[in-house]
Amino acid sequence: AKAKGKPAKGLRFTPVEPNTDDKVTVPEGYGQNIVIRWGEPILRGAPDFDPEKQSATAQEGQFGYNNDFLSLLPLHKGHKEHDDHKARADRENRSHGQEGGGRRQLLVANHEYTDEVLMFAGYDPDEPTREQAEIAWAAHGLSVVVVEGEKSTGALRAVPRHRLNRRVTATTPFEVTGPAAGSRWLRTSADPDGREILGTLNNCSGGTTPWGTTLHGEENIDQYFANTEKVEDEEHRKRLERYALKGTDTERKWERFDDRFDVTKEPYEPHRFGWVVELDPYDPDSPPRKRTALGRFKHEAAQPRLTDDGRPVVYMGDDERFEYLYKFVSSKRMRRGNSRADHEHNMTLLDHGTLYVAKLHGDSPADEIDGSGELPSDDHEFDGRGTWIPLATGDRSHVAGMTADEVYVFTRIAGDKAGATKMDRPEDVEPSPRTGRVYAALTNNTDRGASGKAGPDEANPRNGNKHGQVLEFAERGDDPAAHAFTWRLFLVCGDPEDPGTYFGGFPKDQVSPISCPDNVAFDDYGNLWLSTDGNELGSHDGLFGVATAGRRRGEVRQFLTVPTGAETCGPLIQDRRVLVAVQHPGEVDGASVEKPASQWPDGPDAYVRPSVVSVWRKDGGGIGL
Ligand code: FEO
Ligand code: CA
Ligand code: CA
Ligand code: CA
Repeated sequence: AKAKGKPAKGLRFTPVEPNTDDKVTVPEGYGQNIVIRWGEPILRGAPDFDPEKQSATAQEGQFGYNNDFLSLLPLHKGHKEHDDHKARADRENRSHGQEGGGRRQLLVANHEYTDEVLMFAGYDPDEPTREQAEIAWAAHGLSVVVVEGEKSTGALRAVPRHRLNRRVTATTPFEVTGPAAGSRWLRTSADPDGREILGTLNNCSGGTTPWGTTLHGEENIDQYFANTEKVEDEEHRKRLERYALKGTDTERKWERFDDRFDVTKEPYEPHRFGWVVELDPYDPDSPPRKRTALGRFKHEAAQPRLTDDGRPVVYMGDDERFEYLYKFVSSKRMRRGNSRADHEHNMTLLDHGTLYVAKLHGDSPADEIDGSGELPSDDHEFDGRGTWIPLATGDRSHVAGMTADEVYVFTRIAGDKAGATKMDRPEDVEPSPRTGRVYAALTNNTDRGASGKAGPDEANPRNGNKHGQVLEFAERGDDPAAHAFTWRLFLVCGDPEDPGTYFGGFPKDQVSPISCPDNVAFDDYGNLWLSTDGNELGSHDGLFGVATAGRRRGEVRQFLTVPTGAETCGPLIQDRRVLVAVQHPGEVDGASVEKPASQWPDGPDAYVRPSVVSVWRKDGGGIGL
């Protein structure tokens, strides 16, 4: 039967149909604009983008490649993230005088990786030049750029040369902080103290803290390091392999231009990546930090929630097949003031606390979970209980046979020893600011149930899982620092006609099909928004909203689709604007500058360019109202 009444508040738009159009498709009545593209100048002195005349110096002042995570912060610090929107808008309007023009905000973006064949005409993957490698180093990292809203629409535009604009790249100095700073595992010939690292790599998603900083996950760092196969010390080689490093040459061949990318020359350099990075976007001169207390793995994202007494808890996924879910619980309380001393205190919150890994238990008999995704006969959903197993607190290890330093630097090995639950690629994990329930996107795992690999369990119930699932969990007593939780699968993604899919109990003939959830966000009404990467249903990736409570719980509605080859990233759902990062448009096997697979965003005569897009309602109304 047709569900009665209207979709949940915030999700009242005509869903976009699945499609393979080479553009950003938005619901009827909505408009869009490109906020910023790869290569647009943001720093003083940076030249306009000229794809035929790229240089590392130019790229160091321009917006980077492959935008992923996005954060929008008030331009003036002290306006807290979760403030009432109207109050914030009023403040921003009052600040027109000093900032000049429309409503300004601070945009922070991750640049996950580079696609050299789509960046450089005539690129030869066997013989990259030093200049190309250096441009790619400068195209990685983070961008901070002030953006300004247009008065009459939801369009946003970058404000070049603003004093807060900043680029962080693969060569920017980082401070190492927390319990593993200075550890012998982090020392290299360039940094014998293990306290300063050059650059950040593969920044996937991230988070925004209530104290006005941003967090950035270093994810697939294995791809940058050559010659693991040649490492003679077997113990060291096995540790590198546990982090997916393998083989000889890397695809980009940076090892030819800098010895630190060759593990036979700098054996510990890979240990210096795979961390959560914290950036203070309000201070362009502050060193970005690598926070070792949060552990080292393929960090997808890091989104904090505060305990009742003000301590941040950060939820984190390790995005690889059969990897784990983690959380970090700080032992220090956030200060709410805006003084220098308050800020300095808050910049230490993520250096002190306990790192945990998750173990999940299903409540149905294991033999009822047959790998098909169909619900066990005794039960109406996949659900159960879980525990957070402590791995280390400060300098104290909780894992037999490992020092605390080893737990932080080789966190995956600590998770193995703790008997954590092997999940289907944990991507973004975020607490709902409204309910405190936590949502984890488990994007897919085609190896589930394969020979020699882990079979299905209640939280990962499908063999050969192509479409992924969304796990919902509630901490005991709604305390984010709790050691126990209950969980259930909120969505088991895929074609709604497939009996092995589940949409929170909502009638499946009335939902948008969804595949490979990756990023997680929330709107002001408590709806969950999911963006996808790798849609296995034959249409393009997109952005979806879904109610998590009430009679419409589980009603997935598609808000937009992205161009050919792209994934949808960084979604931000404001009351009158949706912001998405369109990452790797045109990334299709065999595509190149000469043979593009996409013409987005600027048509057939232009380079394909990853870009940030703003979407709004043409009549000026709220999103989904
Ligand atoms: Fe970079 Fe796990 O997505
Ligand atoms: Ca169950
Ligand atoms: Ca991602
Ligand atoms: Ca992804």
